[in-house]
Amino acid sequence: MAVLLYLGKPIPETPSFPLIVADQQPNPLKYSRNLQTRVRGKCLRRSHVVKSSLKESTREYDVPLLSASEAIESLRRSRESYKSTQRYLAMYSSVFGGITTDQAAMVIPMDDHMVHRGHGVFDTAAIVDGCIYELEQHLDRFLGSAKMAKINPPFDKETTKRTLVQTVSASTCKNGSLRYWLSSGPGDFQLSPSGCYHSALYAIVIQDQSPPNYKGIKVTTSSIPIKPPQFAIMKSVNYLPNVLSKMEAEENGAYAAIWLDEEGFVAEGPNMNVAFVTQENELLMPRFDKILSGCTAKRVLELVSNLVTEGKLRGVKVREVTLEEGKQAEEMMLIGSGVLVRPVLQWDDQVIGKEGVVTESLRKLILEDMKSGPSTVRTIVPY
Ligand SMILES: Cc1ncc(COP(=O)(O)O)c(C=O)c1O
Repeated sequence: MAVLLYLGKPIPETPSFPLIVADQQPNPLKYSRNLQTRVRGKCLRRSHVVKSSLKESTREYDVPLLSASEAIESLRRSRESYKSTQRYLAMYSSVFGGITTDQAAMVIPMDDHMVHRGHGVFDTAAIVDGCIYELEQHLDRFLGSAKMAKINPPFDKETTKRTLVQTVSASTCKNGSLRYWLSSGPGDFQLSPSGCYHSALYAIVIQDQSPPNYKGIKVTTSSIPIKPPQFAIMKSVNYLPNVLSKMEAEENGAYAAIWLDEEGFVAEGPNMNVAFVTQENELLMPRFDKILSGCTAKRVLELVSNLVTEGKLRGVKVREVTLEEGKQAEEMMLIGSGVLVRPVLQWDDQVIGKEGVVTESLRKLILEDMKSGPSTVRTIVPY
């Protein structure tokens, strides 16, 4: 093993120095103590000599060693240079015990079990006209997911809710979205979370400046396997199948790829539920026992009685949906916090048809509910 010897010479004021190393293969672990000093604001590195019985060679190392404030500054610059339709207005972290509105500080620890093992759960809620839509319902699902993932939340439900509302308040965001995570927390890089010293809550408020889009879209059938029910019913951070499924759809010119369950019944999309209007003019939705129980889809099931009363629909059924039934439907729609209620015009090669009356009416009902629904679905944010 190579031994590091630090030169006793004064530190030269040049930005990079040769490293004299013992073998030909770069191995950053061997030079982990790349000493640095600052002269008139510039990072300077000390030369190291690595001695061994093998032949010596000289190599330039030019990766700067940054102080905490330099790393933060660099993060801020990279955020500023990156053009996005999304702006992050506030972040809460139980690790730093408060809220920040500085984007450069919106980070989570590398050794958080959620980062390196996927041991975390998350949820979202829309912020509409200064109210958080269906926060209670999303929070119940969030805490249910945490229980299934064996994560003991750092706070009780009321404290978690208060923290989320205060984060939105600090952001001053009136229209956007709130995303939040529960993690087994930072501690070490082991597989078991037993070394995580405390579970963590994180939340972020996002303002999206892209205009809403409710145009009809195409979907495909996902070739990426659906998660087994045990994992599909919880909203964990393990979204790799969902990401690959979305990418597959995009590669095929579609908006989303729809999963079928292991028995071939229609399941859900990568971040939305699906529903149909049958030829008998009934709303048909797959059961939630093997898929994520969508808060928006469940609210649609509550609001849809209006359409039945008005005679726009004959009835509502939540049951297993065959692929054939889905493809033969009069209307097909995607439902979720992100898409709200969006018409599907084509599924694989099957043209479903027009943007249907029921789909449009359900979207209007949800939009109305977001703006003026009862207090059970709207949490007012005191700004
Ligand atoms: C896999 C999956 N299914 C369905 C949904 C729709 O759920 P919600 O209406 O609560 O957004 C989501 C949303 O995140 C999802 O990720």
